[in-house]
Amino acid sequence: MSLPVMPTRILIVGGGGREHALAWKLAHEPGVNRVVVAPGSDGIATEPRVSVVPEADPFDAQGLVEIARGHSVELAVVGPEAALAAGVADALNRAGVPTFGPSRKAARIESSKAFCHEIALAAGVPMARGSAFTDLEPARRFAAQLADRGGGIVIKADGLAAGKGVFVCDDLSSAEDALRALLAPGSSEGVVIEERLFGREASLIVLADGHAALALPAARDHKRLADGDIGPNTGGMGAYSPVPDLADEVVEEIVGSIHLPALAELARRGSPFRGALYAGLMLTQDGPVLLEFNARFGDPETQVILPRLAGAIGPLLLASARGQLASAAVALGLSGRTATLPTTRSAAVGIVLASAGYPEGSRAGDGIDGLAEAADTPALLFHAGTQRDESGGFRTRGGRVLTVVGEGPDLAAARALAERAADAISFQGLQRRHDIAADVPQPVGIGR
Ligand code: AMP
Ligand code: GLY
Repeated sequence: MSLPVMPTRILIVGGGGREHALAWKLAHEPGVNRVVVAPGSDGIATEPRVSVVPEADPFDAQGLVEIARGHSVELAVVGPEAALAAGVADALNRAGVPTFGPSRKAARIESSKAFCHEIALAAGVPMARGSAFTDLEPARRFAAQLADRGGGIVIKADGLAAGKGVFVCDDLSSAEDALRALLAPGSSEGVVIEERLFGREASLIVLADGHAALALPAARDHKRLADGDIGPNTGGMGAYSPVPDLADEVVEEIVGSIHLPALAELARRGSPFRGALYAGLMLTQDGPVLLEFNARFGDPETQVILPRLAGAIGPLLLASARGQLASAAVALGLSGRTATLPTTRSAAVGIVLASAGYPEGSRAGDGIDGLAEAADTPALLFHAGTQRDESGGFRTRGGRVLTVVGEGPDLAAARALAERAADAISFQGLQRRHDIAADVPQPVGIGR
């Protein structure tokens, strides 16, 4: 059996912390000559063998096809959900560029929460009880029924909302406020209302080629803005991997009961999913339950997952894009249809530094101090919302600004390093959490 092909020239679409981590990882893999990131960022451009195309529009499919052709790339990887929902992967594939990232149709598993519920129901995937609504009165009645059962209520805007369109409500009156805001005429496509689940969350991302799946190590995101899981939901304020309360055997079971049935259902409907299928899970007392599927790598999960991988990911992304993941996995000695990718025995902790005003609004243009000091530590710095200024330093560009990642033999050591490097960095209005990986459920069990 021949070994999977290594891509030598790769296009990454996007320009955030996740794309920086992907570019960093791929540019260090054997055989890779050039990674082009469109649009990328000034921070991403500092990586060796990486170039950026700042004028690129990540939603302009034709423009991206031209960039891919101009650089003769052998693989494209699409980072952001909005680019997938805009059909960027469809256009690149049509132009003959093998693309890791689902078609617009398959990406609806993320871009429509109602569609996600429909697929989960058809595939028998365990999910919170929920229903989709476009009108206020029936939505209110369903919320009242859930409130009568004594649990909390979760209201979700149906379209893409970068993790910010979800309202976890303790009582009916706050649920009604959220419904009125989201179902005001013209303000949203509709809502999904779910029963509130309790437990710890975990993100389990698989590489998928339409049918087969290979699991990346699990990670845990911290979605709320402030320490102690309070404040508004954000895109994610920090993450760690491994997840000690998610054993490898359980990971295999989850891929079998959640990812593979959903992949089969999408394929049955004529829209096979080729890309990163990300299950946001609640680990409830009754077992893992799906909160949402995302059609892409997580941010900031990717920043803590990729540094832990023991081998190259480029050949697996290319094999997924070509629908040949199962044979690639066998050739690499990874067994079965739901194998987990081998990791180093290390742990990684990532702390997000966000700009003033995030997530409601965000401020740009604040000078960033301490990057050189942070870079002097062994921590990794992934840029998200930064830009160079006239003096050669970096300023904030809004939103999430940086992810600082510490690696170590266990989560405590990784956390100490991430904290030290994050403490070195400052800018006006910096927002960050100080409790990422501070409260890990069990004594740290280390990877595989
Ligand atoms: P989602 O975008 O659907 O993953 O929701 C964002 C966040 O809202 C999740 O990471 C959870 O913290 C929370 N959430 C979503 N759905 C539920 C639910 N049914 N029960 C409790 N929390 C939820
Ligand atoms: N960190 C959550 C996400 O990428 O959706």
